[in-house]
Amino acid sequence: MLRFPEGFLWGVATAAYQIEGAAREDGRGPSVWDTFAHTPGNIVNGDTGDVADDHYHRMESDVDLMADLGFKGYRFSTGWSRVYPDGKTVNQKGVDFYRRLVDKLLSKGILPAITLNHWDLPEALRWTDRDTAYRFGEYAETMFRALPEVPMWITHNEPWCVAMLGYWRGVHAPGVKGDLAAAVKVSHHLMMSHHLAAQAPHSGKIGITLSLFPSYPRSDSDADRAATVLSDGYTNRWYLDPVLKGEYPADLVAHFASLGADVNEFMQPGDLGGPRADFIGANYYHRRIIHATPGNDLGWAVTDRSPGVPTTDMGWEIVPFGLTDLLLRLGRDYDNVPVYITENGAVYDDEISPDGQVHDPARVEFLHKHVVAAHKAIEEGANLQGYFAWSFMDNFEWAFGYTKRFGLVYVDYATQRRIPKDSARFWGKVTAQNGVE
Ligand code: FCB
Repeated sequence: MLRFPEGFLWGVATAAYQIEGAAREDGRGPSVWDTFAHTPGNIVNGDTGDVADDHYHRMESDVDLMADLGFKGYRFSTGWSRVYPDGKTVNQKGVDFYRRLVDKLLSKGILPAITLNHWDLPEALRWTDRDTAYRFGEYAETMFRALPEVPMWITHNEPWCVAMLGYWRGVHAPGVKGDLAAAVKVSHHLMMSHHLAAQAPHSGKIGITLSLFPSYPRSDSDADRAATVLSDGYTNRWYLDPVLKGEYPADLVAHFASLGADVNEFMQPGDLGGPRADFIGANYYHRRIIHATPGNDLGWAVTDRSPGVPTTDMGWEIVPFGLTDLLLRLGRDYDNVPVYITENGAVYDDEISPDGQVHDPARVEFLHKHVVAAHKAIEEGANLQGYFAWSFMDNFEWAFGYTKRFGLVYVDYATQRRIPKDSARFWGKVTAQNGVE
C-alpha cells in the first residue's frame, strides 16, 4: 500500500464554461469562448457550451453525486461573464449561484477550490488591454468578499494556453494567429492581474494553475539542449518565475525580444510586486520532447509521439515519470513550493455497456500509474499536498467539443444522465484509503 501524507487532498476538477450551460440565464453575459464557439469552423461538430452538462440546473444533485462517490475536494471555476456580464458591473444572481454551490459543498464536507479565470473572459474585455488586469482584480475582490470561507483560490487556469493558444496558435479564443507580441502582452497582463488579486484582501490561500510540461531534449546535442531550456522557459518558467520570484526569466525576455515581442515595452514597475504565490497548481498531461529548428518558428519543434510509447485517445503520450520529474523539479527550483496537481486525467472513447455501466479500465490504469508516480515524488522530497483528477464528469472539451470524454462520470448528453464510470469508484477508493495498492 502506498500511503500519502496525512491531510493530503484528493479531489476532482471542472470549469464553468465546460459544464454549466445556462449560457443566457440569470443575467450571464457572453464570454470570449461563447463568441469563439459560435463562430463556424472553430469547434468540432460546431459544438458550444450553451447547454453543456446543464450543471447550472443540476448543481445540487451533481454535488450529491460527488459526495456519494467519496470525493473530498472540488476544484471548479466561477464564470467570470456570469458574475460580470459586461466586464464591469456585478450580476448578483451570478454571485448567488456560487454562494449556493459553496454552501452545498460545505454541507457535504467537500472542500471548495475556486479558479477565478478558467478562460471565460467577458466578451467586452480583451487581455491585450492593460485595463483588463484591473478588472480581474476587482472581480477577484468581489469573489473573495462573497465567499470568505473558501480555503483555496486559483487566480488563473493555464495562462500559457490563454496567451499562446489564443494569440499565437489561434486554436483557442479569441483565435488570433501568429501575433507573438500580442501573446506576450497578454501573458504579462495575466501575470500582472495575478499579482493584483494576490494583493487584495482575502482569506484562504492564493495560487495559480499552470499547464506544466516536463521537457526533454531529443538528442544530447548542444543545440537540442539549449532549445529545450528555451522551450521549458516558454511553457513553464515564463509563468512560474513571475508568481514565485516576481520577475520574468532573463533568457526568455531576450528570446521573445529577438522575435519582436519585448515584454519591457509594456511592463511597468510594480506590476509583479505582489506576494509570492502560496502554492502552484500543476496540470500535468504529457511531456514535450524538443529539438532545435534554428530560424524557424520559435527556434524549436516538439515531438509529441515517440514509437512504442502508449497514448490516450487524445493522442497524448502516457508518461507517468514525467509527473515525478515535474514535481521534483518544482521543489528543487522553487524553494520547495507547495504544489497541488490541479488536473491530470485521460480521454478514452467510453461507451455504456450492456450492463448499463461504463467500464474504463484504461483510465483506471492511467490514474493508478500517475498516483504511483506522484507518491514516488513525495518520497523523494516533493511538497505535493493534493491531487485533483480532470474531470469530475465528461464535458465541453474546448476546440474538441463533446467528442473527447475526460470524465470520471459519464454524461449522456441526450438525457443528461450521469453514470459513474469504474474510474469514479477507483478515485473514491484512493481517497478513502489515502493511497493506492
Ligand atoms: C486543460 C484545461 C482543462 C481541460 C484539460 C483537458 O488544458 O485546463 O479545462 O480541458 O486541459
